[in-house]
Amino acid sequence: MLEVIVSPITGFCFGVKRAMRLIDEGLGDGGRTIYSIGDVIHNSQAVEALKSRGVKPVSSMEELSEGDTLIIRAHGVMPDLIDEALNRGIELIDTTCPFVQKSQKYVREMAEEDRKVIIIGDSRHPEVRAISGQSGPDPVILSTLEEAKAVSGIERAGVVIQTTFSREKAMKIIGQLETNIPDLRVHDTICQATVLRREATLDLARNVDMVLVVGGKGSSNTKRLFQMCVDEGITSRFIETADEIDPSWFKDGDRIGLTTGTSTPDWVLEEVLARLREISAR
Ligand code: F3S
Repeated sequence: MLEVIVSPITGFCFGVKRAMRLIDEGLGDGGRTIYSIGDVIHNSQAVEALKSRGVKPVSSMEELSEGDTLIIRAHGVMPDLIDEALNRGIELIDTTCPFVQKSQKYVREMAEEDRKVIIIGDSRHPEVRAISGQSGPDPVILSTLEEAKAVSGIERAGVVIQTTFSREKAMKIIGQLETNIPDLRVHDTICQATVLRREATLDLARNVDMVLVVGGKGSSNTKRLFQMCVDEGITSRFIETADEIDPSWFKDGDRIGLTTGTSTPDWVLEEVLARLREISAR
C-alpha cells in the first residue's frame, strides 16, 4: 500500500484559470478556430485539449488573415506583436495575467522616467521577453549574482522580477545591485501564487518519502518546484503524465507527495492519482 498526500495548492493558478475562462468565452459554442502564436500555456496536455476545441497554434502572424482571432498568452507578448495584429485587423483575446501586466506597467513607467530597466529573470522566458519589449532600449536582463556584480556605470535604474523567479535568489541579486547603483527602485513583482505553492510543496516534501512533481517539462514554475525538492535532498520525480510512472519507484508503505505546476490541469493530476491507486492496490 502507498500513502498518497496531495499538496493543498495544485492545479491552475489564478492567471491560468482566468486565461482559460477568456479562451472558453472566445470559443463560444464551438465550431470556431482561434489562434495562438506558440503554446498558450506551458503544458502539452492542456494545449492538446485546447487544440481539439479549436485553438490552433501558429508560428507567426503571417499565417493569420484579417478578421481572425489571436490569443495573447498569459505570459504576455511583445507590444510590437499587438500593434501588428491590430493594424492587420486581427481581433485579440488578451489573457495576459494581471500580475504580468503590472510588471509591464512598472517597466513602461521607469523607461519614461529614463531609468535603466533591469529585469531579474530568464532572458529566454516569454514573460521576460514580453516585459523587455516595454522597457525602452537595451534593458539589462540578469539571473545570477555574478551578472549583478558585473553591472557598472549605471546611476539610476529600476528593477522588476520575473513572476516565477526564486525570491531568495532575487533578494541576493538586489542586494548586490544596491551596492552598484546609487539610485535603484525595486518593484517586487514575484507572484505570490507561486511563492505559496512552493511553501506548500516544501512542507509536504519534508513529510514524505518521495515527491512527484506533475507538470509541463517546459514550465519554469514546475521545473523550479522540482529543483527545490531535489535541493532539499528529497527523492523527487518530474512527470508530465500518469503513463510515465514506473511502479518500481515505490516500495510498500511509502508516503508519496503530489504537487503540480501552475499550468497543470486538474484532470492530469486525477489521472496520476488513479494510477497511484492502481499501483497501491497490487
Ligand atoms: Fe499569473 Fe502568477 Fe499564474 S503571474 S499566470 S497568477 S503564476
